[in-house]
Amino acid sequence: MCGIVGYIGYKQAASFLLDGMSKLEYRGYDSAGVAVMENGRIRVDKCVGRLDALRQKLAGRMPVGTMGIGHTRWATHGRPSDRNAHPHTDPSGNFVVVHNGIIENYLSIKEELLAKGHCFLSETDTEVVAHLMADLYDGDFESTVKKVLQRIKGSYSLVFMCQMEPDKIICTKKDNPLIIGLGEGENYIASDIPAIINETRRTFIMSDGEIATVTADSVWVQDINGVPISKKVFEVSWNAEAAEKGGFEHFMLKEIYEQPKSMRDTMTGRVDAEALCIKFPELNWSPEEMAAVDRIFIVACGTAYHAGIVGKYYLEQLAKVPVEVDIASEFRYRHPLVDGNSLCIVISQSGETSDTLAALREAKRLGARTLAVTNVVGSSIARDADQVVYTYAGPEIAVASTKAYTTQLLAMLMFAIYIGRLRESLPEEKAKELVKGLTLIPEQIHQMLENVDQIKVFARKYGSCEDAFFIGRSLDYAVALEGALKLKEISYIHAEAYAAGELKHGTLALIVEGVPVIVLATQEDVYDKTVSNLQEVKAREAVVIAMGFVGDENLAKYADHVIYIPRTGKYLAPLLAVLPLQLLAYYAALTRGCDVDKPRNLAKSVTVE
Ligand code: G6P
Repeated sequence: MCGIVGYIGYKQAASFLLDGMSKLEYRGYDSAGVAVMENGRIRVDKCVGRLDALRQKLAGRMPVGTMGIGHTRWATHGRPSDRNAHPHTDPSGNFVVVHNGIIENYLSIKEELLAKGHCFLSETDTEVVAHLMADLYDGDFESTVKKVLQRIKGSYSLVFMCQMEPDKIICTKKDNPLIIGLGEGENYIASDIPAIINETRRTFIMSDGEIATVTADSVWVQDINGVPISKKVFEVSWNAEAAEKGGFEHFMLKEIYEQPKSMRDTMTGRVDAEALCIKFPELNWSPEEMAAVDRIFIVACGTAYHAGIVGKYYLEQLAKVPVEVDIASEFRYRHPLVDGNSLCIVISQSGETSDTLAALREAKRLGARTLAVTNVVGSSIARDADQVVYTYAGPEIAVASTKAYTTQLLAMLMFAIYIGRLRESLPEEKAKELVKGLTLIPEQIHQMLENVDQIKVFARKYGSCEDAFFIGRSLDYAVALEGALKLKEISYIHAEAYAAGELKHGTLALIVEGVPVIVLATQEDVYDKTVSNLQEVKAREAVVIAMGFVGDENLAKYADHVIYIPRTGKYLAPLLAVLPLQLLAYYAALTRGCDVDKPRNLAKSVTVE
């Protein structure tokens, strides 16, 4: 999940590399480095820490040269250190490489090279690739890269420079993202689009096994056998500003505030506000195919997994299909009973999460139809799935997912309504009522975001607590899971979510005086039971912050505080209920002085297992 950039052209490479890397730091940020061709020699500067540490190191002695590669690292092999930071070179310094992914057979190659007298400076798998370049060098840069690719196994985006051919950069990828940006007399390489959109909108996405030779004036793409590949160039439609903070203190806050728009965008073309029905023009499964589905598996990680849990309620209750939800890293190893009548839905903001991609491939192997719900067009998961439903959240930069989550919930709800109608398990009137409610959601979110003072007060008041609990039943429990994850990942407060009825089977022992318990009470069919659970924690002198619909006067009788959300139907409630929880996590993290957008030990895109 590292960030990669490359530049070749007529401008000073280092300045683009640093700028581009700053847009990719969310991919991993424990160390950073650049390699620039300076007067015909490869110069490498790298150090542990954030990009600022590298900037300071370079201050006053910026590398001079118009071609270079850069890397922000999130450690997988070898702890974060100056030595383990990328780029890596061979001993002569003739070859330099940056890498995202894992070279699975690096140890056996390393042993072979050690036997030949190679000395390694780092603990990384990547350095082995640089040494292998030197070992296999046959006088031709391109053909040596191909030889290296025949030897290495694993997942990678790799970008190389070679001192003997200082007019080109060569890059390739397998199971990790890589894009090329096209300029005039200059070209760019990056692991993601935000790195290049300040420079160019014209871009194409590299596919697995492709090798691109990039010069200032040309990009030549071929496969390992030298067969030329012509790539479809597209214009990036979102602008540089969309990937920046746009006046907000943090990306996370900006992204929370973008939710009315991301909801509208995700509904566009799918919600017919006049006929009050859902369409998915991008899906081409026939009603017969959908009727044949007898089980749905939803597979995802992190926040996307929580969206999957909500999706299970939607699909079972509206489309009447049994659903299993799996954490992607567990899915393959439990030998799920997937077959040709199964539909596997993978949910992934980035479309690159390694475990989710592997689960998708496993489901395909077992014969399931597959559907990706993802936010990144052309991502690995989007490309591998049979069908794709894109969420149109726009780029999400903060590690803690917010707008991607709500668009995932929306996509799952729309899909459940759509399938429910196709299978005739959802009555038309019920579907119309749901669609009508959906059309109101963006404005309701907007209203909620207009007044967040109450949440700021709670965050200040309870931000110093070390534990917090979130409880709810049914869909409220699913949202509680996401609320707890948000709080723990960015504020480092220990937070746990419990099905409200389960609390008394153990965790109630932890509910003591002053512990904040957030009680979600938006689900009418279990409302009374939830209120009973609320009273159980109140009886243990917890501080209860309840959440219910505007006009619910009952909650105030038992809770210390009540957060009111606009009235909506039970299926739509999660789309609103999660907002105060996102904001609570954000302001609590701020109160505690945490690095909101870049929480410790976490990365936005997890492309290792
Ligand atoms: C990481 C991120 C989470 C995200 C999860 C799954 O852990 O920090 O915010 O939910 O990966 O990512 P995906 O891109 O597959 O949704």
